[in-house]
Amino acid sequence: MKKIIKEKKQNKIDDMIINDQKEIEEVYKKRFEKHYDELRWLYMELYENSSMFAELCDNMKCFYLERGEELKSLDLERETYRDWYKKNDMLGMMFYIDNFAGNIKGVESKLDYIEQCHVNYIHLMPFLETEEGRSDGGYAVSDFRKVQKNLGSMEDLESLTEACHKKGINVCMDFVMNHTSEDHEWAKKARQGDGEYMSRYFFFDNSDIPSLYDRTVPQVFPTTAPGNFTWIPDNSHFVMTTFYPYQWDLNYKNPRVFNEMMYNFLYLTNKGMDIIRIDAVPYIWKELNTQCRNLPQVHTIVRMMRIISEIVCPSVLLLGEVVMEPEKVVPYFGTVEKPECHMLYNVTTMATTWHTVATKDIRLLKRQLDIVHSLPKDYVFLNYLRCHDDIGWGLDYEALKADGMQERPHKQYLNDYFQGYIEGSNSRGELYNADPITGDARFCGTTASMCGIEKAGFEKNDKAMEKAIKLDVMLHAYMFMQSGIPVLYSGDEIGQVNDYMYKQDIHKADDSRYLHRGAMNWELAKNISNPNTVEGKIFQSLERLEQIRKKEKVFVSNADTWTIETWDRAILCIGRSFENEKIIGVFNFSEFDKTAWINETDGDYMELISGKEIKPMGVNIPAYGFYYLKKK
Ligand code: GLC
Repeated sequence: MKKIIKEKKQNKIDDMIINDQKEIEEVYKKRFEKHYDELRWLYMELYENSSMFAELCDNMKCFYLERGEELKSLDLERETYRDWYKKNDMLGMMFYIDNFAGNIKGVESKLDYIEQCHVNYIHLMPFLETEEGRSDGGYAVSDFRKVQKNLGSMEDLESLTEACHKKGINVCMDFVMNHTSEDHEWAKKARQGDGEYMSRYFFFDNSDIPSLYDRTVPQVFPTTAPGNFTWIPDNSHFVMTTFYPYQWDLNYKNPRVFNEMMYNFLYLTNKGMDIIRIDAVPYIWKELNTQCRNLPQVHTIVRMMRIISEIVCPSVLLLGEVVMEPEKVVPYFGTVEKPECHMLYNVTTMATTWHTVATKDIRLLKRQLDIVHSLPKDYVFLNYLRCHDDIGWGLDYEALKADGMQERPHKQYLNDYFQGYIEGSNSRGELYNADPITGDARFCGTTASMCGIEKAGFEKNDKAMEKAIKLDVMLHAYMFMQSGIPVLYSGDEIGQVNDYMYKQDIHKADDSRYLHRGAMNWELAKNISNPNTVEGKIFQSLERLEQIRKKEKVFVSNADTWTIETWDRAILCIGRSFENEKIIGVFNFSEFDKTAWINETDGDYMELISGKEIKPMGVNIPAYGFYYLKKK
């Protein structure tokens, strides 16, 4: 009798499992059928290889079946609420794991601090296996399925993403798909002359074709890694290396490369990633006689990635790293019917912001913001003041010309200004990849150092410190007002300054980007609750802004956003509205008290930081001050 009951119970469980399985299969089938035709069409257009396509489809299914149950339910949840990431509570923070907390377990132990910062999205800078001394800050990956030993293991990563999800924190990682490290297994085999693996890169047995490429392909690192090709004596070939010589460009004309990289992508998303930052995406397709940037095939590949993720892991967002002028960035959103990336960096706005800090003239920034505001509201930009990379002065020089500024001398001015060479500048920082031929140079420094906090601290000048903190906080307030999602660089929340220690590390000394990639100073972070310290002042001011942003629905990323004329070149005014609510932000970029001649006559307004009523007409605004005026 007992045995029969037991058997019946077992049968029931088996039935349940089979039914669950069926349901799961149904979900997959539905997604797959929805996208199959387009995926096949795009794949065939690029590769004309149906057996490789069939292999891709088989593997997609395997990755889906391997995907954890919690992630699958997150997929379903986000599939029904696709705008989940456009909410006003989205706030990102980016950091290198070792700099932030030693290792992955350390990051897990700091989640309370991350919550205290109101951050609900963390970007873990590259953490996959890479060769010390030839790592480009982790952007030279030697194994896409292994975590750097000193940071922990894949299990630690899974544990971290699970812990983050419990707290509602999203996790982002880099997917460096343009190249592998020369220490990657494929590269090692290619170096030994294995043709199968050589075909995954771009090899040439003499310099004829490389020199043809060099005619049209610009250089990314003209000083630290000049040229686009590297001679490999072991197999007597040149290999294409757009970035550093140890970063070998992958050849996406080979479907094996595409398939394998998609398997790596799915492997990583299955570890619980919410956001995948596609590194250096414009570079992934190469053609002779072109600049090898933004070619149409790049969009085919990104679209295929989007489809693959919609089928296997639809909760995952694609963030494209397109560090280019606006007209080249926007196509990476794709179209409404055929979307590509969910989010892109607002890089021109970032660079234009620092131009505005140096010139105290908002005209170019206003123009730039107007361009962003005229784009469809569904386009989500990531806004930032600083990231791990240099600031390239990619400004709208045509527009600047109309204001009497020429590209070369202006770049020189900006670099001089931020190095602190210009009278009145309190910034500190260093040049990056100064090109002796073109005279071009980019810039490195933390937000705080560029705002004058480093200099004021060094000189123990309280007045200057107060001014620097005001500028720093105003810039954050302005960034929060922009259309999109703000991302902080870890350490900025406590005003961390440049870290010159990199010069003593032979592996880093040549790359001044390490100046603003210093380790988080937890000693200073202890001061966040003390309003008499620099850290406390900045942290608490940002906290107030974060609270406001979370509370006010006009901060959703798809709100209406526009600029307002202030009749003063140093004062920027941005309006936002959503569902009958309206807030206008007024920002004084100059070190003088000013009046913004705005004239909003549609009612009474309250300033959200001070709680005071302020009429949005002829607003007096202190040096480096700002207001968030909410319509009552
Ligand atoms: C991206 C990264 C940068 C890196 C480059 C090469 O631009 O942001 O840090 O050097 O890709 O991978």
